[in-house]
Amino acid sequence: MSETLSAAANVAGMDLDPYWMPFTHNRYFKQKRPLDRLLVSAKGAYYTTVEGKQLFDGLSGLWCSGLGHGHPHIVDAVKRQLDVVDYVPAFQVASPETFRLASRIAKLTPPGLNRIFFTNSGSEAVDTALKIALGYHRLRGEASRTRFIGREKGYHGVGLGGISVGGMVANRKMFAPAMIPGVDHLPHTHSLKDMAFSRGQPEWGAHLADELERIIALHDASTIAAVIMEPMQGSAGVVIPPKGYLEKIRETCTRHGILLIFDEVITGFGRMGAAFGAQAFGVVPDLITFAKGVNNGTVPMGGVIARQEIHDAYMQGPEWAVELFHGYTYSGHPLAVAAAHATLDLFESEDVPAKFAAVGDMLGQAVHGLRGEPNVIDIRNCSAAAAVELAPIAGKPGLRAVRIFEEALKRGLLLRFTGDIIALAPPAISTSDEIERLIEGLRESIRAAA
Ligand SMILES: Cc1ncc(COP(=O)(O)O)c(C=O)c1O
Repeated sequence: MSETLSAAANVAGMDLDPYWMPFTHNRYFKQKRPLDRLLVSAKGAYYTTVEGKQLFDGLSGLWCSGLGHGHPHIVDAVKRQLDVVDYVPAFQVASPETFRLASRIAKLTPPGLNRIFFTNSGSEAVDTALKIALGYHRLRGEASRTRFIGREKGYHGVGLGGISVGGMVANRKMFAPAMIPGVDHLPHTHSLKDMAFSRGQPEWGAHLADELERIIALHDASTIAAVIMEPMQGSAGVVIPPKGYLEKIRETCTRHGILLIFDEVITGFGRMGAAFGAQAFGVVPDLITFAKGVNNGTVPMGGVIARQEIHDAYMQGPEWAVELFHGYTYSGHPLAVAAAHATLDLFESEDVPAKFAAVGDMLGQAVHGLRGEPNVIDIRNCSAAAAVELAPIAGKPGLRAVRIFEEALKRGLLLRFTGDIIALAPPAISTSDEIERLIEGLRESIRAAA
């Protein structure tokens, strides 16, 4: 029996019940026992299933493996690190490599954002940023600034802070009693009536930023700590900021002394065609959260980038005392740091943002060719991210996308869906042929599932 067949045979008899899969239809998955969804290896832009089938990685893992899987430079760095030191505590001691990484990240950020706090995930980065914002106002004598403003459809991970400022009902409704109080939400900017089939940033919608003034008038600026938003909402299905929208939000926050947090867990490290969304959209926040692309998804890592003034506000009290009572056992884990250094080597030597921009050009051209296919009600794109939105099957929201996802697997494509939206975020190493095959495979899948 070949290796893959025996692996598949082993899996066929495996007990699937104990693993409670995250963000997954567990019952459907376990009943189906789908061998085409059991991934055993990956190289470059492809996963290999337990049956030996190659799947093109249409979302770069979960938006994180933008340089492709198993990049030898990153793999070698992590392997070498294991022989040097496996773990260094992050409290009161540190590896010099972590200092060096913070300096390298600070060189990629907009001017003034140069203090880096490491976490292990995007969710932790968000909760960390919210805490930093609260503490900052308190330390400056404005302890009344405790409210946060998020946005409908926003995704900020699954911590209690992140779901509170987040705007996805399914992620919130079960946990309402545990959510942080004093959070309000801006309206989302996704309107099919006004912006369907936009290419790049929609012309319509900047006026929705005026809602921030209304919310501020309702609560009074003196009670608001920060506004948090993804510059481009990835998890909601690639909702792209209307032209002028982020600029207005920035101006309003500045005028009212409210911090602006950009959650760049998806948009950070190149995907928008610049190091951060902040530079791609030309709007500079006060705090940036990151994760995923920082080390190509190789080892869990996230973090917060703060304006120096925010950091400096904490630097008071006795010099021997801890300034920020916050941190994680694995903050700046040596393997994550090694993977990040190697990723940044490639970032610098290969102009990764330019590669994403080039993939974005190909993707944008190709994806709009799906207009007119059955049930397609919107197509949108922004640099190396795009989405195809489908009309839901009456009474069965989400089912159409599941069917398309399954049809795409048959055609060697791993896609990601959210509701009835297919999100596309291929790796920066994708070729024009691969982008074409991705879109043609999606076209066939849409037709097959119609
Ligand atoms: C914008 C944004 N923030 C936060 C998160 C949460 O990151 P993690 O899953 O690493 O906790 C995500 C994950 O997709 C994200 O897209």
